[in-house]
Amino acid sequence: MSSIVIVGAQWGDEGKGKITNGLASNANMVVRFQGGSNAGHTVDVNGEPVVFHLLPSGISVQGVLCVIGPGVVVDPLGLVEEIDGVRSRGIEVGENFLIDVGAHMVMPYHRAVEAAEEESRGGSAIGTTRKGIGPAYSDRYSREGLPIGMLASFGEFEERLRAIAARKNEILTRLHGAEPLDIDAIVDDMRRAADRLVPHLADTPDLVREAVASGSNVIFEGAQGTLLDISFGTYPYVTSSHTSAAGVAPGTGVPPSMVGEVLGVAKAYITRVGAGPFPTELPDGEGETIRDRGQEYGATTGRPRRCGWLDIVALRYAIGVSGMDRLIITKLDVLDAFETIPICVRYRIDGVETDRFPRSAVELSRAEPVYEEMPGWQADTTAARRHDDLPPEAMAYLRRIEELTGVPVAAASVGAAAHAVVQFAEIL
Ligand code: IMO
Ligand code: MG
Repeated sequence: MSSIVIVGAQWGDEGKGKITNGLASNANMVVRFQGGSNAGHTVDVNGEPVVFHLLPSGISVQGVLCVIGPGVVVDPLGLVEEIDGVRSRGIEVGENFLIDVGAHMVMPYHRAVEAAEEESRGGSAIGTTRKGIGPAYSDRYSREGLPIGMLASFGEFEERLRAIAARKNEILTRLHGAEPLDIDAIVDDMRRAADRLVPHLADTPDLVREAVASGSNVIFEGAQGTLLDISFGTYPYVTSSHTSAAGVAPGTGVPPSMVGEVLGVAKAYITRVGAGPFPTELPDGEGETIRDRGQEYGATTGRPRRCGWLDIVALRYAIGVSGMDRLIITKLDVLDAFETIPICVRYRIDGVETDRFPRSAVELSRAEPVYEEMPGWQADTTAARRHDDLPPEAMAYLRRIEELTGVPVAAASVGAAAHAVVQFAEIL
């Protein structure tokens, strides 16, 4: 059996897309297991950045079957647009792409309800991507959802859609004082989306299980990061899915006993988009330098990302929750400019030092970082491809991460280009 899970070890945007795409050339299958178009996975395709939101990051690699698993929420209109955009860049999206019939759909009313809710939260808004993710998952759990397989029986789908959309219009108009949505227009849009997406629908769990059982290389591609997990993240400042490695089983139909190595992807520093506690945040100065050098702007929303030093307390917690066997450290080159590089090794909460990551966002918001300083290397690492190309201080930084977490670093990424990776060990 050979399967690996690639998950974010922070609050998302760790560079999972690049890593997945890089490993996909050794894979037979790439399976997305949760999230939706809130994800923005930037991948270098022939020297150009391409952002995937719903398409698995292996889609540009020939011969790889890409699957959207039942744990994902799919915006049909957004997906059709994404497919068209990707095709216009010469990437094939045909028989290499399957959508599981059990994945639920994100409807226009999900986005409208989310926008109204976020507005009404005012200063305590979550700062979501407004892609309708939370409302779509909520509807799934309250059994008011629409599995994408329904598009194949459009008559039944339309009937259910009209009934649900009418109820959503009540919520929008009566509760939020918003405009009702045009249900006929939604039905027409969905009919067009169905024409395009039904050919990709499939019953995928058996297929993926058989691939793993027969020894094919299967990558389970996570979106967001472990600290945004609905159960284990900094609730309520989280996303609405199981972003940790545990999400693979319900998100694909592949049981935990068949899931292999878990690779955690973490930046050499840390970022967060949207609201929520962030102990090592650097509001200006060094934070701005990181943002500029790392081009830390959201791939989905364009928002500037909040930036800070690497947080080992949070990283250890994420390693535990997702059971990460090895780490991949990305964007190491962004730290090339710094004379010294602080690493947060403990928190001080209410005057007491601790290495425990608080489960409560309220408590986490009181955590102050306790730093250890590492010497910077102040040299360009972007051309490094072998470990002896890296300055000794950069290697020392990576070794320190290994010591502090107890988890080996399998590779470090030193630039956006697909080949800008220093690999320390075989991965797939
Ligand atoms: P990738 O896959 C970074 C954040 C949002 C917000 C919170 C909830 O590119 O790493 P949501 O729209 O999911 O309900 O928003 O989660 N968020 C992400 N942050 N990268 C992502 O995905 C994210 N997806 C959601 O900013 O704080
Ligand atoms: Mg992102």
